[in-house]
Amino acid sequence: MEILNLVLKTLYLLLPVYLANMFAVLSSRWSFLSSLNKPIDSGKNFGQRRLLGDGKTWRGLVVGFMIGTIIVIIQICLYSFESFRNISLINYAAVNWLWLSLISGLGPLLGDLIASFFKRRLNFERGAPLPFVDQWDFITSYFLLLALVSNLDWNIVIAGYLLTLIIHPLSNIIAYFLKIKKVWW
Ligand code: CTP
Ligand code: MG
Repeated sequence: MEILNLVLKTLYLLLPVYLANMFAVLSSRWSFLSSLNKPIDSGKNFGQRRLLGDGKTWRGLVVGFMIGTIIVIIQICLYSFESFRNISLINYAAVNWLWLSLISGLGPLLGDLIASFFKRRLNFERGAPLPFVDQWDFITSYFLLLALVSNLDWNIVIAGYLLTLIIHPLSNIIAYFLKIKKVWW
């Protein structure tokens, strides 16, 4: 029961982050916002390799950011209900709303960009899998930023990392079968 409770609360905490990350990927299949469908690095190289690569677009960044902030703003509003308060790990009423929404939008995307930067430096092609980094990049940056505004227990962070190891491949496999992603990782 304790474990289930921890899983539920951690999932609720990470919901904006998971959805931000998923929608950044989903947006690559959309035909709208096509003016934003440009690589963030504008095709520029850093040394021999691309700075970030074609897999990191402004559209993914903007869509992911918006989804992360929208979901956390909904969570902030829901905090007035006791049932939502019971599963909240953040005191949404006490944290600075502006910071929290910025962190929930930018946090996951920053880690994803930083990971791509290092993948290119290590000569990994766009889309080439880098186990654990691909799964954990976005929650790492989110947790680091979140720690600035809210106290986090270590068991929550560990639960978050373990849950993400399950959820990330699951969502990728679903996206692969829905033909949203070209590869299943
Ligand atoms: N995507 C995007 N913009 C982002 C993040 C993701 O457009 N900021 C889209 C791209 O079409 C990308 C796909 O989602 O190819 C999958 O995302 P991800 O796995 O993060 O990128 P990869 O293609 O694997 O690139 P990398 O090797 O740099 O991780
Ligand atoms: Mg990838």
